[in-house]
Amino acid sequence: MEKTIAVLPGDGIGPEVTRAAVKVLKLIARRYQHEFNFSYGLIGGAAIDALDSPFPKETADACGTADAVLLGAVGGPKWDNNPSELRPEKGLLAIRKHFGLFANLRPVKAVPALLSASPLKEEKAAGVDLMIVRELTGGLYFGEKARTADDAYDTLVYSREEISRIVEQAFELARVRRGKVTSVDKANVLESSRLWREVVEEKKAAYPDVTVEHQLVDSCAMKLITDPSAFDVVVTENMFGDILSDEASVITGSLGMLPSASIRTDGFGLYEPVHGSGPDIAGKGIANPAAAILSAAMMLRYSFGMETEAAAIEEAVQTVLEDGCRTADLAEAGGRSLTTEEWTDKVIEQLDAEAVSEDIMFS
Ligand code: NAD
Ligand code: IPM
Ligand code: MN
Repeated sequence: MEKTIAVLPGDGIGPEVTRAAVKVLKLIARRYQHEFNFSYGLIGGAAIDALDSPFPKETADACGTADAVLLGAVGGPKWDNNPSELRPEKGLLAIRKHFGLFANLRPVKAVPALLSASPLKEEKAAGVDLMIVRELTGGLYFGEKARTADDAYDTLVYSREEISRIVEQAFELARVRRGKVTSVDKANVLESSRLWREVVEEKKAAYPDVTVEHQLVDSCAMKLITDPSAFDVVVTENMFGDILSDEASVITGSLGMLPSASIRTDGFGLYEPVHGSGPDIAGKGIANPAAAILSAAMMLRYSFGMETEAAAIEEAVQTVLEDGCRTADLAEAGGRSLTTEEWTDKVIEQLDAEAVSEDIMFS
């Protein structure tokens, strides 16, 4: 298959982990006879510096003609005091909104080789396999907002339509997973949550094979730590999903392990690690590229329908971790400490080794 991938490295460790993911995608193309064309664009602080906009028109156009987008991360102290329109984060919100990427999938899966790096007891972290389905283009992030010197407000608005489509995504995913949806809200306080709950209740009739439970966000934050295995699909509004996913990420050992897909219903998607630009480690070559590499695997699965290729990447990542290769963030899991590039090359070697053993099997 021939595909065009727009690559937006962004800021801080964004370019470091994106380079790793592109390297893996190039190997996949070679091994499975695909043609991936990469077109590079600016976003975030890098785009502000070069073009005075966090999401320039050139970037929107390049992404619009691509089949999918791979993004690193945006932000950093250099731009933290910029006016809101000239903040790197604004570029991320703009690209999500521009392409209508309302569904953000954030899978959290415990890795056996990394259990000792999890802040949870190993027996709690073991076997965790949940998917956070975060609404991405509504809620507090996009509601009317304003400030004066002494007042400020943000508004949390959701329409029935916006809730329906994300809830449907969650039900569809649960159907092919373990058949359970936990809808997370704050319905004891927020009107928007009461509408959210009502829509979930209406929708569930169409999915008799899926069990639904409602959970308030505060106790959900607790239960993610005390009983994370109780969750299958977690569906929630934009900001709750943002917070809960960073919390859940460390069950895997590090925020640097968590990939994400931001999709709509036609296959186009934006793929990016859940983590940010890591200003404290940027430029040192030590960032964990797993989240970016696994985001590339999600691209192959959700945008290109390349399940075998996606699974090959995920398996290679597992094997490299089982072999004891670690980036610095996973030091607690023991093993050998490698740089971003060295660790990526281990994944590449592993993918090559798998290819060789398949050739032997099928020859
Ligand atoms: P962060 O995710 O950048 O970093 C949090 C901590 O996790 C840091 O200690 C960092 O070193 C570590 N970390 C993150 N990714 C890692 C990786 N791949 N390997 C090893 N360690 C990793 O969050 P922050 O420090 O709160 O935010 C920094 C900047 O990133 C801010 O400007 C923020 O707005 C931005 N941000 C961007 C995105 C995005 O582009 N998607 C997401 C979150 C934060
Ligand atoms: C994320 C980030 C972004 C968000 C920021 C940088 C706008 O934290 O992708 O999780 O809050 O959505
Ligand atoms: Mn976040």
